[in-house]
Amino acid sequence: MERGLPDSFTVDAAIALAVRAPSVHNSQPWQWRVGERTLHLYADPARRLPETDPDGRDLLLSCGAALHHLRVGFAALGWRAAVHRLPNPAEPNHLAAIEPHRHEPAKRDIELAAAIPRRRTDRRRYSSWPVPAGDIGLMAKAAAEEGTFLQATDGYARYHLAHAIAEADRQHARNPAYRLELAAWSGREASPDGVPSANVPLPDDTPGALPARPFAAPRLAQTPGTAGEDDEAVLLVLGTTSDDRLSQLRAGEATSAVLLTATALGLSSCPLTEPLELPGTRETLRTKVIDGAYPQMVLRVGWAPVNAEPLPATPRRALDEVRVPLGQPVGR
Ligand SMILES: Cc1cc2nc3c(=O)[nH]c(=O)nc-3n(C[C@H](O)[C@H](O)[C@H](O)COP(=O)(O)O)c2cc1C
Repeated sequence: MERGLPDSFTVDAAIALAVRAPSVHNSQPWQWRVGERTLHLYADPARRLPETDPDGRDLLLSCGAALHHLRVGFAALGWRAAVHRLPNPAEPNHLAAIEPHRHEPAKRDIELAAAIPRRRTDRRRYSSWPVPAGDIGLMAKAAAEEGTFLQATDGYARYHLAHAIAEADRQHARNPAYRLELAAWSGREASPDGVPSANVPLPDDTPGALPARPFAAPRLAQTPGTAGEDDEAVLLVLGTTSDDRLSQLRAGEATSAVLLTATALGLSSCPLTEPLELPGTRETLRTKVIDGAYPQMVLRVGWAPVNAEPLPATPRRALDEVRVPLGQPVGR
């Protein structure tokens, strides 16, 4: 079996795919260090959002999503990534050491990699077409392969989840420091990070619509003809059986696996983490929605209406900024 890092063109191509991963407020809180035989993923603590993400859970999820994107990129390029997660307890920001080994890409590797540049966080209303049970099953399988589980909500579980989303929105609205941080990271026009106005829809006034995170300066129109139509999005909760940092990193990998599976199926998706960022609403999800397991991510998944405009890709920081030589301190 061939070992050692592939050529730098292949490594850069895999990192370029990895950084297309979703991240909280598009904060991209990661750094990549290229060694002789191993590629390392580090969390960049300077990019944690203290008001939105006091526990650093969103940061770990974002880095986990980038790790899974990297694995998918390598797999499509002909390299299977052996991953050692949290390899050094003395260095908590060192999230993964990745050793690629030659392999033959499978059809699914190519399909998932092809979904990376097509995936978008779509915060608009979806259509009235229900998501087929078979598609939910495929997303649940993708989550299970990453050591987590995915639960579609209906009945009381969905009621409690919708209630928790609204309650988190109300609590955040009363927190001036949170609102300041959100405004600072959104409403952007030409910035390599943060959430651009072009990706934030005007508020959805339809009765019963779930409150969306109120990013600054929205300027994306809702799709014509969707007002008053039923939005048949499914709300999926991704959970783990423990709540340590490894579980949160794995939940980020699973989030990526579910989102890329959804994209490959033609589905639209949007992460919703407000109710997980506050202890009370997270506890509601734990006890009333997923039977005492630990909720890590909520995903809204559905079909975009046929007349929905394609969404622009959100920007990313330059590769030279996120790929640093081994030995340079994190955050430089
Ligand atoms: C951990 C995490 C939490 C997120 N929370 C939300 C959220 O609550 N609301 C939302 O609209 N988007 C949320 N997102 C989506 C990000 O804002 C989005 O990934 C980022 O702006 C980049 O855009 P893209 O996904 O279209 O590439 C979240 C993403 C991650 C990884």
